[in-house]
This record gives sequence, C-alpha cells and structure tokens, in this order.
Amino acid sequence: MKILEAKNIHKIYNSNSPEPVHALKGVSLSLENGEFVALVGRSGSGKSTLLYQLALLDTPNKGVVFIDGVDTSKLSDTERVNFRLGNIGYVFQDYALLPELTLFENVSLPLVALGMPLTEVKKKVENTLKKLGLEGLGEHLPGELSGGQKQRGSIARAIVSEPKLLFADEPTANLDSVSSKQVLEAFKDLNKRYGQTILMVTHEPEDEQYVDRVLELKDGVLINQ
Ligand SMILES: Nc1ncnc2c1ncn2[C@@H]1O[C@H](COP(=O)(O)OP(=O)(O)O)[C@@H](O)[C@H]1O
Ligand SMILES: [Mg+2]
Repeated sequence: MKILEAKNIHKIYNSNSPEPVHALKGVSLSLENGEFVALVGRSGSGKSTLLYQLALLDTPNKGVVFIDGVDTSKLSDTERVNFRLGNIGYVFQDYALLPELTLFENVSLPLVALGMPLTEVKKKVENTLKKLGLEGLGEHLPGELSGGQKQRGSIARAIVSEPKLLFADEPTANLDSVSSKQVLEAFKDLNKRYGQTILMVTHEPEDEQYVDRVLELKDGVLINQ
C-alpha cells in the first residue's frame, strides 16, 4: 500500500537572491508502507526542500502530496497542523531538543500537544525511550547526553506519537562514526521490528547499506527512478 505519493512537486524560492531559485522541478515519488528509503544528492540539490514539502512543513508552488490517501493540498491550515502532528515525525540534523527540558519532557511534547492524558503520556514515553535504548536516561538534560543519545532522543520524540511516516534530514551529519552507527541501527530496528516507514536524507554512501531503496536528486530532479 502506498503511504505517500507526491506528484509533480515544484518549489521556487523568491527570497534572498536576486534570481528566483527553482529548487524542485517536478518531483514525483511514492513510498510503500514499511519501506526504509534514502534520499541522496549533492549539497544544494533540493533534498531538504523536498523533505519539507513531503512532511507538510512547507507548501509547494505546484504539485500534490497524498499521505495515506489524503490530498494534503485540500487541508486548511489548522487541519494541516493536526494532520502533521498525528501522522508525521521529523528528525533534524541538529537534534532540536529543548536544552532546559529533560529528555523525558522533550519526548513527551508531541503527546502533550495532542492533549493526551498524563498517565498515558508517561507510559508511551517510557516505552519509546526503551525502543531506542535510552531507558534510565529520561531525567537527564540534553546537555548531559552524548551526541548519539541526543539524536536517538530526537528520534524518540519524532516517533512517540506513532506517526505513519518518519522523515530524517542528515541525522548522522554531526555524529562520530560510533554514534552514527547507533543512530542508523536504531532506524533499521524501528523499520524492521515495528514496520516504521522512513525517508532519510544522507550524503554518506555507506548509509545506503541500511535501506531498501535509494532516491537521488540532482538540481531539483529525481534522476534514478
Ligand atoms: N529558504 C530559502 N530561500 C532561498 N533559497 C533557498 C532556501 N532554502 C533552500 N534554498 C536554495 O534551494 C536549493 C536547494 O536547497 P536545499 O533543499 O537546502 O538542498 P540540500 O538539502 O540538497 O542541500 C539551493 O540552491 C538553496 O540555496
Ligand atoms: Mg539539506
């Protein structure tokens, strides 16, 4: 079953530069439920821009993104935010954990935003920390964790609401090789054991061994389909 289908996505940036930047030039792709897919391409090829459009963090100038059969271009702003909270997890390169909150509090944020009762939040957060090998670290502040632990914490936050889709933008770019391996193994484990669908941007060729399929962007166009 297709969990995501993007059709003819165009993105043009008008800000910053004198000339508009045509960052995505008609990208179409689909993800099957349960796939682990890598998105590769040189710096500036449009990988982050594509992830933003697919994760509903931005709106394309042209084209449509269907998620689980829903035409997301038809959603109102409020519906879009709620749809994203309920269906999409996103992992950023730099963790984006709030430094003054504990790991437990950081991971609980999406559930609190969804209005879940606290006893249920507690159960889900503990369960998710365990899935990522972070049990016992919930009371630590992000500053007390290693890079790999922080990134696994941000993955925990991205999946705690059990999203249908998980996106990650160069999640290992700031990590040493041991931490990178832990993070990639964590993704692989989520995919194999729990059937989590994942689209991961990477520029490390060795990361491709972890995934089912590789998509390559070049100058805003997918070239290997
Ligand atoms: N907010 C923005 N405003 C203007 N141009 C942007 C913006 N974000 C990205 N770009 C441009 O769009 C192109 C694709 O960028 P990006 O998606 O970040 O590529 P990648 O993630 O593959 O490095 C680049 O030419 C970049 O400079
Ligand atoms: Mg990028």
